[in-house]
Amino acid sequence: MTHTLTAESVAYAYESASPVFSQVDAAVRAGEILGIVGPNGSGKSTLLRVMSGLLRPGSGRVTLDGRPLSAFSNVDRARTLAFLPQAVNPAFALSVFEVVCLGRYPHMGAFGALSAHDREVAERCMRHTEIEALETRDFLTLSGGERQRVLLASILAQEPDILLLDEPTAALDIHHQIELFALLARLAEDGYGFAVVTHDLNLAARFCDRLLLLTNWRETPISGTPAEVLTGPRLSEAYAAAIRVDRHPVTDAPLIWAETPAGNGPSAGGDGPPLEGGRS
Ligand SMILES: Nc1ncnc2c1ncn2[C@@H]1O[C@H](COP(=O)(O)OP(=O)(O)O)[C@@H](O)[C@H]1O
Ligand SMILES: [Mg+2]
Repeated sequence: MTHTLTAESVAYAYESASPVFSQVDAAVRAGEILGIVGPNGSGKSTLLRVMSGLLRPGSGRVTLDGRPLSAFSNVDRARTLAFLPQAVNPAFALSVFEVVCLGRYPHMGAFGALSAHDREVAERCMRHTEIEALETRDFLTLSGGERQRVLLASILAQEPDILLLDEPTAALDIHHQIELFALLARLAEDGYGFAVVTHDLNLAARFCDRLLLLTNWRETPISGTPAEVLTGPRLSEAYAAAIRVDRHPVTDAPLIWAETPAGNGPSAGGDGPPLEGGRS
């Protein structure tokens, strides 16, 4: 079965503060990657928490295949929907393999024993995220980027249909950033659905089917295809920076870059004075 996670007219406010967002409509569909972008503090993580069921929306509703999230048991929900939070600092001393196997919990029997199938799934997810060589390492000794790939392997091992990932590429080098998005694209082709928060607008432009752009100045995000959402004027306004959008010479996807603020170094166009001395 193909699954859809839907947010309809969702609003959220922390305590009595003004709403982080309101009237948000979003859908995470099998076979698609929804990108969630926007400046710091615009509500991206809050939206993922609401869509994962961790936070209840103040108004509106979040449904999985038409049923409110609250109607699912934790285990039933976890078999379909997985959430990778932004900062995970587990306080346990487990090996990488054990952390990946934690993802199998919604599938394990009453006694919590791992079957041969559970181990096969864990090993496949370690191959997908290129962490086989780390299998026996203590998780707490890994670098930030290595941890991030292990945690991704762990939620892939959960075998959910829909994955909500909060900045999964934040600590990754450029090789692992592109590998991760390429992996998501392959998994989306296989029928998984993703919502991914990212600050990398160029990766979002290239790999996401649809985007939501949250801003600090309006409560309702801008939504559409990457070409519709990623325009110079929209991004410049959202990020309060001079942002230019060209076309990627090979992929033809929007190519986003920020101009240097006036008086702070080389500007766009390259017609300023050449840089001389003082820098190495
Ligand atoms: N637990 C919380 N209590 C109160 N305010 C919060 C809490 N978490 C986040 N906020 C505020 O909500 C807004 C959105 O935060 P967040 O969703 O983390 O933004 P983003 O992920 O886009 O950077 C920010 O103004 C942030 O300070
Ligand atoms: Mg965040």
